[in-house]
Parts: sequence; structure tokens; C-alpha cells
Amino acid sequence: MSEKYDVPKYIELINSKLSEMLYSVNDGQDYIIKAMDYSLSNGGKRIRPVLTLEFCRACGGNAEDALNLACSIEMIHTYSLIHDDLPCMDNDDFRRGKPSCHKAYGEEYALLAGDGLLTLAFETALKSENVKQENLIKAVKTLANLAGVAGMVGGQVLDLQSENCEPSLEKLQTIDRLKTGALIKAAALLGCYASNRADEKMLAAAEKYSECIGSAFQIVDDILDVTSTSEVLGKPVGSDEKNNKMTYVSLMGIENSEKEAQRLTDEAVNALECFGSDGELLKELALSLAKRKN
Ligand code: IPE
Ligand code: IPE
Ligand code: MG
Ligand code: MG
Ligand code: MG
Repeated sequence: MSEKYDVPKYIELINSKLSEMLYSVNDGQDYIIKAMDYSLSNGGKRIRPVLTLEFCRACGGNAEDALNLACSIEMIHTYSLIHDDLPCMDNDDFRRGKPSCHKAYGEEYALLAGDGLLTLAFETALKSENVKQENLIKAVKTLANLAGVAGMVGGQVLDLQSENCEPSLEKLQTIDRLKTGALIKAAALLGCYASNRADEKMLAAAEKYSECIGSAFQIVDDILDVTSTSEVLGKPVGSDEKNNKMTYVSLMGIENSEKEAQRLTDEAVNALECFGSDGELLKELALSLAKRKN
């Protein structure tokens, strides 16, 4: 049986590895490293890397073998947030409880901090020890695919194009599946690959679970943009309305959005059956994400 961890322990491991990787780049480039660290080290919930570590464990692997892959996802996620906040995108000045990267370091350095994190992510992923080469190749291919045009980047493109467009649930589901769902799916699958033990059933379960929580995650994000406060969220509220975004709330209202998030969460939990009692923490994570306040 692989060793069990709790979420605070996972977060401790993740933060320590992120910092180690960031400061391993040292060519006198202190300013950009500081900008990257500013966005990376502060206030994120670390949902995605926790999923990677726990999926590795649930598949029978050692969670720590997935640590580099987990951190690579968090780096890509953080880069996506830095770019998402830029004036040419959502134009939001607040992130993870502080001024956004472009407010603190300027737009040109925010752009480059994002680029730096994206490339550092692949360097970090490839430094994974104990992941068999064939599995590491699968993991890095999956990461590149789901972070790029076929995944998160493509979703951000559709999200921009949806501003002021004719509302449609089908379009919205596609946007959310890509801009948010893709990295959450990558988080789950990379954990499975890192275990060196994932069978087809486990991979299919990870895919189903992550698709469901990915959609639910963006629905809750849309709800919180309307119902929360910037103090609690650590980022501005009302950003979606400001940018005329199509969201679950604009399409079906808060109550129906909450029901849909709950339905998807139940579906995610049901997908965990093949993990037996090893799926317990993943179940708790899905339930807590549906109820999250930030
Ligand atoms: C925010 O993600 C962006 C979305 C995909 C909705 P998180 O809510 O996970 O942000 P952090 O990492 O905790 O800051
Ligand atoms: C962002 O969606 C998804 C990303 C790929 C960054 P949002 O634009 O709704 O995320 P927040 O609300 O700014 O965190
Ligand atoms: Mg956005
Ligand atoms: Mg945004
Ligand atoms: Mg949002």
C-alpha cells in the first residue's frame, strides 16, 4: 500500500518543489524570476497539483514520484492566470490577493513571466525521477496537448470570441471544457502516468472524474464572480459582466448553475468506484470544490 498524505502535506511538498525549481534558474535574471515567484508563490489553492499527487497515490504509486509533474501543471496554470489578467485579456488588476503580475511588474514582464513559467514547466516535468520513460513521454505529450491550442489556449481563444456573442449552452460547455477542464484533466492523467501502475480502467475513471470536476469548477468560479467579494476571492468580482462573458450564471441563473455543479460533482464521485477506499480523498476533494468559497 502506498503511503497516505493529507492536503496540507501535499501543499507543503508542492510549494517547496516550486521554489526549488524556480531558483534553480540563476543566470543573473533576478527581476523576471522575482516576477514569476510573485505570481507562483502566493495564495493559489494548488488544486491541480494536489490532484496529480493523489491520483498517483490512488493508482498505487508513491505520490512524491509525481511531484515534478504536479508542479509543472501549477506553473502552466499560473502562467495562464498571469496572461488571463492582462489588459488585452480580462483586464483584471487583482490576483491571489495582490495586484496582478502586470500591475506589480509591468505588462511586458508579466508576459515574459508567463512565458518563463510555461517553459520552466516542461523542464520541471522532464526532471521527473522514478517515472518510467514511456510513461513520462505519455505524460509530457498529454501536458503539451491539454495546455495548448487543443486545450487551455484554445479555450481562452473561444472565451475571447464569445464576448458579446449569441449565448449557447453548447458553446459554453466547450469553452469551459477547454479553458479550465483541460488542465484539470491533465492534472489527473499525469498523476496516473507517474504511478507507473495505472491500468485502462483507472485512466478512464480519472478522465471521467476530471471532466466532471473541471466543468463544475468553472461553474462555481462563474457563481463566485457574482456572489462573492474580492477580499474572499483574492481577485475582482464582476469581471465576467464587465467583459460581457457568457457564463453559467448569465445563461441559466445562480440556482440552476448550483444544481448543475452539484450534478457534475455527484457524477465525478461515482466515477471513482474502481479506486475503492483509495478514492476517498478524491471524493472529499470533489465535494469540497463544489462548496468552495474562493
Ligand atoms: C482560477 O483557478 C482560474 C480558473 C480556471 C477558474 P483557481 O481558482 O484554481 O485559482 P488559484 O490557483 O486558486 O489562484
Ligand atoms: C480563466 O477563466 C481560465 C484560464 C485559463 C485562466 P476566468 O477568466 O474565469 O478565470 P478567473 O476568474 O479570472 O480566475
Ligand atoms: Mg478569462
Ligand atoms: Mg479572468
Ligand atoms: Mg472567472
